[in-house]
Amino acid sequence: MFMKKKVLTLAISGLLAATVSFSVSAKTTLKLSHNNDKTHPVHISMQAMADEVKKLTDGEVVIRIYPNSQLGNQRESMELIQSGSLDMAKSNASELEAFEPIYGAFNVPYLFKDSEHYYKVLRDPEIGGKILDSTKGKGFIGLTYYDAGSRSFYAKKPIKTPADLKGLKVRVQPSPSALEMMKLMGASATPLAFGELYTALQQGVVDAAENNPTALTLMRHGEVAKFYSEDEHTIIPDVLLISEKSWGKLTPEQQKIVKEAADNSMMSHKDLWAKATEEEIQKAKDTMGVEFVKVDKQPFVDAVKPMHDKALADPVIGPIVQKIDAAR
Ligand code: GCU
Repeated sequence: MFMKKKVLTLAISGLLAATVSFSVSAKTTLKLSHNNDKTHPVHISMQAMADEVKKLTDGEVVIRIYPNSQLGNQRESMELIQSGSLDMAKSNASELEAFEPIYGAFNVPYLFKDSEHYYKVLRDPEIGGKILDSTKGKGFIGLTYYDAGSRSFYAKKPIKTPADLKGLKVRVQPSPSALEMMKLMGASATPLAFGELYTALQQGVVDAAENNPTALTLMRHGEVAKFYSEDEHTIIPDVLLISEKSWGKLTPEQQKIVKEAADNSMMSHKDLWAKATEEEIQKAKDTMGVEFVKVDKQPFVDAVKPMHDKALADPVIGPIVQKIDAAR
């Protein structure tokens, strides 16, 4: 009887020890949702980040990426992240403006002088870093930015001046800045999720859209819009986010690894983006017959100038936009 009890106690404590050691080294799997294809450079850069995290945590933290809006569109993913039902998402500053107005600083047209100015701002702890941290306590935090190039108009006809936009229904992201920009340029704005845009262009629900050139090939928009007019009105970064609930589940050491891997992937993405954009432009021209139209930017710059002035006077984004201007 005594022996039996001892064996039982030993067995139970062995089981407990196994449970304890199991939970200490338990694998944490983080689901990451985004709306681009898996051949998109941002997907590739996030996969590089996930690989680094897996390696440096000895497989204890695994980031599983779900492309093509499989887990919901960008807005839905943001909502799931805020409530802690999804671990991570890749969004962009345009979509994020509706969740945290400070991201609107990046949505001011013709804000960045060149790539050097852009990266300086993104990497500055007082500018880019401050914006990523701004949502602490609100359900999610920003980990890093990914270059998403500059955005220009594409449609079934060239758009060489703001006058060409008159009467056109242009798809925009659901962001207050995007709506204002279209109003100033004289177009009528239709907010739509990215995944709905191909059909909307095809069926004439919208006449035009605006994005970086990869949307032509990787989202196949070049099949239904043959003119890409290079006015380059905005340079809006993609943003990698994690829910605070999931962040809190990581050990401080794991958090450090995730943050560093995210930062590293932002920098390796820089060259990848430039290379991929060139390749996709070539593909759009050669395989889809898309025409790239050079435009005089000045009339576009003049049309949206009031947004820059208004941004500087804004209590939330004003101080940030001042710093961005000073970093030129
Ligand atoms: C960019 C970005 C997407 C975003 C899209 C849009 O392409 O990478 O994540 O959804 O713009 O215009 O909606």
